[in-house]
Amino acid sequence: MTDYKKAQKILEENDQEQLLRFYGELSDSEKEELTEQILTLDFSVLASLIDRNRPSLRGKISPLSAMQIGDIQKNRERFTREGLSVIRAGKTAAVLLAGGMGTRLGSSGPKGTYDIGITRHVFIFQCLFENLMSSVKEADTWIHLFIMTSSRNDTETREFIKSHNYFGYKPEYVTFFIQDAAPAVDFNGKILLEEKYRIATSPNGNGGWFSSMVRAGLTGKMHDEGIEWLNVFSVDNVLQKICEPCFIGAVLQSGCASGSKVVRKAGPDEKIGVMCLEDGKPSVVEYIEMTDELRNTMDKNGEPAYNFGVILNYLFNVAELERVLSRKMPLHLAKKKIPFIDEKGFPVIPNEPNGYKFELFILDLIHEMPGCLPYEVMRNSDFAPIKNKTGVDSVESARELCRVNNIVL
Ligand code: UTP
Repeated sequence: MTDYKKAQKILEENDQEQLLRFYGELSDSEKEELTEQILTLDFSVLASLIDRNRPSLRGKISPLSAMQIGDIQKNRERFTREGLSVIRAGKTAAVLLAGGMGTRLGSSGPKGTYDIGITRHVFIFQCLFENLMSSVKEADTWIHLFIMTSSRNDTETREFIKSHNYFGYKPEYVTFFIQDAAPAVDFNGKILLEEKYRIATSPNGNGGWFSSMVRAGLTGKMHDEGIEWLNVFSVDNVLQKICEPCFIGAVLQSGCASGSKVVRKAGPDEKIGVMCLEDGKPSVVEYIEMTDELRNTMDKNGEPAYNFGVILNYLFNVAELERVLSRKMPLHLAKKKIPFIDEKGFPVIPNEPNGYKFELFILDLIHEMPGCLPYEVMRNSDFAPIKNKTGVDSVESARELCRVNNIVL
């Protein structure tokens, strides 16, 4: 059977024949690109559309207490010693999640290439490399850094980092991989075309990182190097510590299979997900799910019981992640504005959401872990997220926090 016939059959089976609507008009290379995409696309994600109108059911939510700064200070030396020994044994690696679209920041390039400097260049990637370098120096050993990109920003990300000489990091210890993508559909469940010869796809959410690492063939590398723990972190927090020995030691000594850096909420209405237990397993209550009852629940010290927000800096045990791989993780549908080619072949840039993207959430991975240690960090020294250009969690607010931490911009 030719590739075209195979693609046609797959589309018939999935009720998606519209994807070949313009096939007759395409050049040979465009035909090849489209059929290749159809043959490799994961159509199974479409099954989650069936439940699209069903409200997601949560289990019973109860508090999960965090290890607070005071406890950490008391044990800092012991935790740090343990963390350093694990790092020196080569058992820890870092994973940078840089596959997002960074839509809110509104810059054209990958978010990490954004320059927050004022009197000199200070790129977001540079801050992250420098922060990891502090742990490298403290442990006096290199730490493997995996960087997840998306098919859209992969080339630009690699070239940018290479052209800056890995910001002083050792290139042998940097491995890039591309995050898996999922198709985008209209509200009727029909997959959209971004070009007449290309399906509209998007990176499959911040929870797609480990399965993408495995699909990229990195399991062998991890096992060969003896990596047992992965510190996963987002691209946008320029102050975060990466592979911080004290954090790693605290999680290991807690006996938990994962750890999450958390900050004390700035106020009851801060838009941040907080750690909790759901049916006895670690989980996160998103800020839109916070009820008055949860907001008003106090712990035994009279403090809010749901008060520690996650900042997308987690430690995961690799063996536990591999165990979870065999499970089907929930796919979340996000309503988005998706540019597409209409039936007549004209490009459309919608002003309103016109379809769904499919996303996996890292929180669902945490929920599958046998335990998670919420580990408090100081907002002022460890949390400067850049989501927007101005206002809350922005370039402006991050610059101010850098100033407070004596970082010259
Ligand atoms: P956000 O949820 O803030 O998304 O990602 P974003 O793409 O950076 O920004 P917006 O929402 O479009 O403005 C949190 C972290 O997860 C990564 C991002 O790169 C960031 O480090 N991420 C998100 C991925 O790596 N892949 C994804 O599919 C989504």
